[in-house]
Amino acid sequence: MRHAVTKAVIPTAGLGTRFLPATKALPKEMLPVVDKPAIQYVVEEAVRAGLPDVLFVTGRNKNALENHFDRATELEAILHNKGDKQKLARVAESTDLANVHYVRQGDPKGLGHAVLRSKAHVGGDSFAVLLGDDIIDGRDHLLERMLEVHDVRQSCVVALMEVDPAQAHLYGIATVEATEEDDVVRVRGLVEKPEPGTAPSNLAIVGRYVLTPAIYPVLEQTPPGRGGEIQLTDALLTMAQDDRQGGLHGVVFRGRRYDTGDRLDYIKANVQLAVEREDLGPGLRDWLKEFVAGFDS
Ligand code: G1P
Repeated sequence: MRHAVTKAVIPTAGLGTRFLPATKALPKEMLPVVDKPAIQYVVEEAVRAGLPDVLFVTGRNKNALENHFDRATELEAILHNKGDKQKLARVAESTDLANVHYVRQGDPKGLGHAVLRSKAHVGGDSFAVLLGDDIIDGRDHLLERMLEVHDVRQSCVVALMEVDPAQAHLYGIATVEATEEDDVVRVRGLVEKPEPGTAPSNLAIVGRYVLTPAIYPVLEQTPPGRGGEIQLTDALLTMAQDDRQGGLHGVVFRGRRYDTGDRLDYIKANVQLAVEREDLGPGLRDWLKEFVAGFDS
């Protein structure tokens, strides 16, 4: 079934300070995961799910990101003259991927504020929000499933995943009720980054949302919350408590997610994705076995 949602909003205004000095001059979204910038995986996911219209909410120093999704005429001319079709195709991959638009966030006042900056572009339609720190495996269809649930239930939908309780303070955490569908829950409560040991559950929001335009007036009224920032989680709690707007549903994801948000997870994501690759996987697997065996001696 075709759904009316065609727009994806990708907030990219963060400073990426966890990766300094790598991110001093390079946006963190442009850090490679294997051989592709992390952000390209996220745009590919949006396009795969039928959302060809991508709005980046950017900040300062994001020129490299804008250039990555634009033509690279000089490079293309050189590769063309060399007759290197394979590399030309690799260059073109990100250029032809989506219809890309940009809006600046201005003051970095939080994720809720970043999403609010998309209002003029999105207008009266429902839309998806994808956070760049999470990569969802291309073989799993989380966003497609969320769009389906949005279509049927006519409500906002968040992606939820069970996390280690020791990690719950890093996420928005949901309390939920079951529905008649195994992977769909009704969200009753939400708390943004609860103090360690106080999380009401271990169901965490991972960085995918399908939102109705009713979120905009709610965001406009949402006061600064955790960290003094306007939190999308706080606005979603208001939606969850308002049955007239269809409430809030969660899709419980049990697939493969790679976190690139901190250094250790970023290194793991590189290894996990490289191991799966036909060109790099076999060599990497063999080397990893030897390398790990060396730990015991
Ligand atoms: C954001 C959200 C949080 C969510 C997380 C998922 O936090 O505020 O609710 O659980 O993304 O990655 P951030 O990680 O940007 O601080």
